[in-house]
Amino acid sequence: MADEIPNPCNGEVNLTDPATARCPQPVYARLRAECPVARASLFGTPVISRYQDVRWALRHPEIFSSEMDMHMALGTERPMIPQQVDPPRQTRYRKLLDPLFSRPRMAELEPAIRKHAGELIERFVDDGECEFNAAFAVPLPCSAFLTLLGLPLDDLDYFLGLKDGIIRPETKDGVTLEDAPRVRSETGKQIYAYFEAALDERAKRPREDLLSFLLAAKIKGEELARTEILDICFLLLLAGLDTVTATLGCNTAYLAANPEPRARIAQDPGLADAAVEELLRWESPVTGVPRLLKRNVTIADVELEAGQLVMLLLGAADTDEQEFADAERVDFGRSRNRHLAFGAGPHRCLGSHLARMELRVAMQEWHRRIPDYAIQPGETPRYSAGIREVMYLPLVWEKAS
Ligand code: HEM
Repeated sequence: MADEIPNPCNGEVNLTDPATARCPQPVYARLRAECPVARASLFGTPVISRYQDVRWALRHPEIFSSEMDMHMALGTERPMIPQQVDPPRQTRYRKLLDPLFSRPRMAELEPAIRKHAGELIERFVDDGECEFNAAFAVPLPCSAFLTLLGLPLDDLDYFLGLKDGIIRPETKDGVTLEDAPRVRSETGKQIYAYFEAALDERAKRPREDLLSFLLAAKIKGEELARTEILDICFLLLLAGLDTVTATLGCNTAYLAANPEPRARIAQDPGLADAAVEELLRWESPVTGVPRLLKRNVTIADVELEAGQLVMLLLGAADTDEQEFADAERVDFGRSRNRHLAFGAGPHRCLGSHLARMELRVAMQEWHRRIPDYAIQPGETPRYSAGIREVMYLPLVWEKAS
């Protein structure tokens, strides 16, 4: 078994390796133990893997900056707000946005999300099989997102196309890797145009929704510029869809392969909150976040220089036995679970309450109708790197007689 694990500890780690994407935890363990500041084989970026180091870095944006010239790579014309902006400017945006994503606000959305989850499952439950990603994990977060923003559910397919045009343009028909930057930039323009039109409409006829709120919002007595609102909307679209899809896929692939925890969740829906939390820790679908060093800093005896890009490996931090007792065990009864799957510090995920609610509702509704299921025999789920999305997850279960 050990020999099958790609060995990262010649100081270099290939985070895009498909085997590592499928099963990263053993690679994380070796990184922490043998080279807590490794080098990514792509571009040589330093990769930081121990919990204490990662958490410390996330909490020191004055050293580990989020302001990087990387936004163009995602089809945007300006940095996305608030993710690619440092405090104190970032703090002002968060003060405005945090109440919109609070736990009570998200609880108001729960009935609509639960209803949609049930409707999706009804479409395929009698088939005894589905490809989980296409049938459930992709459409559910997209409908949640449209509901949150007050946009029509009929736009779902159009939105999915926009998201893929930015995140994985090479999966579109006839698009090569060389074409990807052009497709991203064209898709970026479509996204701006879509939100521009929706905002124009709200400007004429305000509603009780997030877009209307942003149009009326003020920071230090000044309304937000139209570009600021667009840069927030663009980020919500990118941050709120694939992350939840990826987590649904990772969690379900784990449960499909592990009958005992699966049966416990099916028997006790009240376990869903703890199960979601522990699976977020174990799977950490957003495997890492980049930062740009503002100053020289020494981590685990390695000197890093101002101007360097570094990768904070959240997945490795979340399986660190220095922080988590029995870290290699998935334990729904874990009492202290300060995982970093949503990040930490000022940029900690704005949508964590929404994500948690979606994941819990999905887990409950799925297991209520399909308590027992497995990966289609002879098939292997395929994971992407970076954000660990299960690109292909064929599931089977017994049809109701
Ligand atoms: C399970 C699902 C999710 C995971 C694992 C996740 C993970 C993360 C992580 C790790 C960060 C920190 C990024 C950094 O430090 O650079 C982040 C930030 C962010 N997330 Fe999420 N996220 C999820 C769902 C969502 C949802 C549903 C939304 C909103 C609709 C959302 C909106 C954001 C935003 C706006 C930020 C930037 C916050 C800032 O920079 O102040 N996320 N997320």
